[in-house]
Amino acid sequence: MAKLTSSTTHGVLLLPLYLLLLHIFSPSLSLETTKLRGSCVASERDALLTFKEGINTLHGRLLSSWEGQDCCKWRGVMCSNKTGHVVKLNLQVDHDRLLPFSMSNDISPSLLALEHLNYLDLSFNDFGGRQIPKFMGSFKNLKYLNLSNANFGGSVPPQLGNLTKLLHLDVGGNYYLQSVDLVAWLPRLSSLKHLDMSYVNLSAAVDWVQALSMLPTSLRVLHLFGCSLNATLASLPLYSSNLTALVTLDLEYNDFQGPISDGLLGNMTSLKELRLGGNDLVGMIPETMKNLHKLKVLDLRWNQISGDIAELMERLPHKMQSLYLRGNYLNGSLPNWIENMTSLSTLDLGYNSLIGSIPSGMGKLTNLNYLDLSSNQLVGMILEDHFTSLTRLEMLDLSNNSLTMGVHLNWIPPFRLKVVYLSYCKLGPHFPAWIQSETNITFLVMSSTGIIDRLPDWFWNVISQVEYLDLSLNQISGVLPMTLEFLSTAKYIILHSNQLKGRLPKLPMDLWYLDLSRNYISGPLPLNLGTVELNYLLLSNNLINETIPSSLCNQLQSLVVLDLSNNHISGQLPQCWTNGNSFRAKSGSRYIGSNLVIVNFYNNSLSGKFPLFFQGCQYLSFLDLSYNNFFGNLPAWIATRLPNLVFLLLKYNMFFSYIPIKLSRLDRLQVLDLGHNNLSGIIDPSLMNFKAMTLTSPYTSDLNTNVAYIVDNIDGFSDPFSLFVIIKGQILEYQNDKIFFMLSLDLSENGLTGEIPKEIGALAGLKNLNLSSNRLIGNIPETINGRLSLESLDLSNNELFGEIPSTLSVLTFLSHLNLSYNNLSGRIPSGGQLETFNDPTIYIGNNNLCGPPTSKNCSRNQTTMSDLSEHEDGYDMSSFYLSMGLGFGMGFWMVFGTLLFKRTWRITYFLLVDNICDKIYVFMVFKWARLNARIKKK
Ligand SMILES: *[C@@H]1O[C@H](CO)[C@@H](O)[C@H](O)[C@H]1NC(C)=O
Ligand SMILES: *[C@@H]1O[C@H](CO)[C@@H](O)[C@H](O)[C@H]1NC(C)=O
Ligand SMILES: *[C@@H]1O[C@H](CO)[C@@H](O)[C@H](O)[C@H]1NC(C)=O
Ligand SMILES: *[C@@H]1O[C@H](CO)[C@@H](O)[C@H](O)[C@H]1NC(C)=O
Repeated sequence: MAKLTSSTTHGVLLLPLYLLLLHIFSPSLSLETTKLRGSCVASERDALLTFKEGINTLHGRLLSSWEGQDCCKWRGVMCSNKTGHVVKLNLQVDHDRLLPFSMSNDISPSLLALEHLNYLDLSFNDFGGRQIPKFMGSFKNLKYLNLSNANFGGSVPPQLGNLTKLLHLDVGGNYYLQSVDLVAWLPRLSSLKHLDMSYVNLSAAVDWVQALSMLPTSLRVLHLFGCSLNATLASLPLYSSNLTALVTLDLEYNDFQGPISDGLLGNMTSLKELRLGGNDLVGMIPETMKNLHKLKVLDLRWNQISGDIAELMERLPHKMQSLYLRGNYLNGSLPNWIENMTSLSTLDLGYNSLIGSIPSGMGKLTNLNYLDLSSNQLVGMILEDHFTSLTRLEMLDLSNNSLTMGVHLNWIPPFRLKVVYLSYCKLGPHFPAWIQSETNITFLVMSSTGIIDRLPDWFWNVISQVEYLDLSLNQISGVLPMTLEFLSTAKYIILHSNQLKGRLPKLPMDLWYLDLSRNYISGPLPLNLGTVELNYLLLSNNLINETIPSSLCNQLQSLVVLDLSNNHISGQLPQCWTNGNSFRAKSGSRYIGSNLVIVNFYNNSLSGKFPLFFQGCQYLSFLDLSYNNFFGNLPAWIATRLPNLVFLLLKYNMFFSYIPIKLSRLDRLQVLDLGHNNLSGIIDPSLMNFKAMTLTSPYTSDLNTNVAYIVDNIDGFSDPFSLFVIIKGQILEYQNDKIFFMLSLDLSENGLTGEIPKEIGALAGLKNLNLSSNRLIGNIPETINGRLSLESLDLSNNELFGEIPSTLSVLTFLSHLNLSYNNLSGRIPSGGQLETFNDPTIYIGNNNLCGPPTSKNCSRNQTTMSDLSEHEDGYDMSSFYLSMGLGFGMGFWMVFGTLLFKRTWRITYFLLVDNICDKIYVFMVFKWARLNARIKKK
């Protein structure tokens, strides 16, 4: 519809059919008679009303027009001009304006009363995983049936095979739908021209090869996207069948393997569109591809197609229009004769291994609309010539190469781009002036392009239609406008790592993601942000000061990630709950912070008690309040209200009193940093129950999927998210998914007393244990032994006494140890990992320690229990040497193996997402799907 001019739209929508009739046949007829003529058959009206009853009224906005006698006038209902019978029912939901309806009951078979129905569209509604009703097979006159994307589940009923008049069947996009016995129904649809079974799981259909070989020769369009067919392409019966009329063949994302061998496509000479993306196809395309004279669209994205790009292009038929080769292993450079491929409108060669420069003949592709050469190894200058005749270009992606834009400052491009990706192209130092003529831009990504310049005044006006803006990692200066509300379509604004000044502007109403980190934003946060849709607010490393206004409470209710670290914010967090101190659940209302997963206030001047603000943040996984002025005791509700915490960082505050025992209920907790506070009391043995810390790799369990998911996504398009941990005496920064490797317990610099509980030995995954600068007494427990993953152990500045247990020497991964300033005595155990520590300062301040590396010799009677052969915990020599060996090997594998398996565990995260994540995920996928769809359309 959007493409129709407004006058046609009016013509179609505002002149109902009966009025049209009225004009043609009898200008004198009154409206009354027309109504009679158009009014519907009573039994059919009843059937429709019965159907409507099964629909959830909350959602059924589409059906709100279903009132009154004349059902032919109801939205989505169309009757025959002659008979008055309902012939068409179109209940497809238009995404942007209407919510899908969902069914509270099964679909009523009453619909069968609509005997004359030839068109039924129920797509994009929500049938709650119900089966496609068997009675669907009884609409004998049906020619068009669209049940796509409607959350149907179970198995496709074989009764559908009775619809022998069916020309068009679409059951795609129902993720829980499968078909076990395809032969039972599919071959009977003998008139079929269009079949879409995308996402229908056919992996259980043992007969799919047979069924597909029996498809009617009338078939013109076949979509089998993501059907889990998992076979070699050669075993596919389609190629040997008589599908000579086939125009569109879509087999994307089916795990097809092997090469596209010669002759495979021989018979399908009508083919115009061939989609094989997202499989595991290898090798070069066959020469016979050239015989597909009508082929216009070839999609081989994300396979393992290899060889020279020039050779591939020579094997293509002439007059190709769309070529999608993204994500393969193509090499070589772009041939000069590419200028002859003048029918090309889409050329997507991103994510290959192309080298050399871009031939200037590219500028002669007059039909080119979409050009993606991103993520290759292209070099050289891009000049005006490259674009001479590209008047239709709307999407340009040259990012992630080593290209330099060398166009003149006063160049006026021939195109009006909508989507521009130029990250890591060299555009600067001046802000590219040619953007000024690009007033249609919706996506502008110019991250890390070497711009060292003021943001020009015209900029904001030019991009007034922008949805996604990324100018990060430049040296762009200037003052932000007071308001960005006029960017009414903006969803993402990413300007981090520049030199922008001014206050945080009032934001576009629908803004979803804002990253202004690492700039010079100053002043207080605004009283009115202007948006309630914001999910990501990233403002770290700026100069923001004063308190967070409580007026933001309501505006931040969608927030998932809030990063205000390294600013000058002071005062208390706003008290967002109306009821004073206690958090009360009100059903049906969204709570401030109830979506928060990551909150970072690191290094500000916030004060007050542990903020009650967080009581409603049940999904909170990452909380960093360190380097502030918080005080008071640590409330026990942290454990009950924030059960999803993975990272809790409270270092450098003034919290006092005991560590609540309940904290150990935080099953997912992986990093607990309470260093440099005024905590007192003992380290209760029951505190040593943190479940995630007992695992050597909690990140592969389902414990921290929330953060993983979010971080993964931030990683995708913005500043790396990082965690600072003091370990091995240094401040280490863990970025993105690396933060999941950190397991740390830091209680240093407090006033903790009593002994180190021997239960500490249960925390097998812990890499960093820092109990330094407390008043701990007693022996170092022997449970700190080879079972632990400790890399860094700091027990300095306590009052520990007794001998150093030899078990320390079997801490295979230990690379940092400090036992100084205690009252330890006896011989320092030798051998094992301890042998590598020859810095005597790690033992100083223990007057009674002797042996190397200290200078004090042990007297003869200072026997120790350090003889490795005398281990009490079952570690004999062989297992010790074994673990030594492992130490080296494991260290290597931990780093390297992780990289290798990263992809896999991303998939694991994906599979394990729990409810909230699901929600966020669906939401984001939805957003991305829409963005992608938009790009595709262009
Ligand atoms: C009804 O009549 C109009 C005008 O003659 C025609 O364009 C339309 O196709 C007819 N509709 C049906 C369903 O027969
Ligand atoms: C332990 O914590 C103290 C205080 O925070 C710090 O100075 C020290 O470097 C830490 N030790 C290690 C080994 O990281
Ligand atoms: C150190 O330990 C010894 C026994 O090993 C004890 O006699 C002495 O009092 C302790 N000193 C301090 C300062 O605690
Ligand atoms: C161990 O801790 C002491 C006291 O904090 C410090 O002086 C010394 O440098 C530390 N040694 C190492 C190797 O970090």
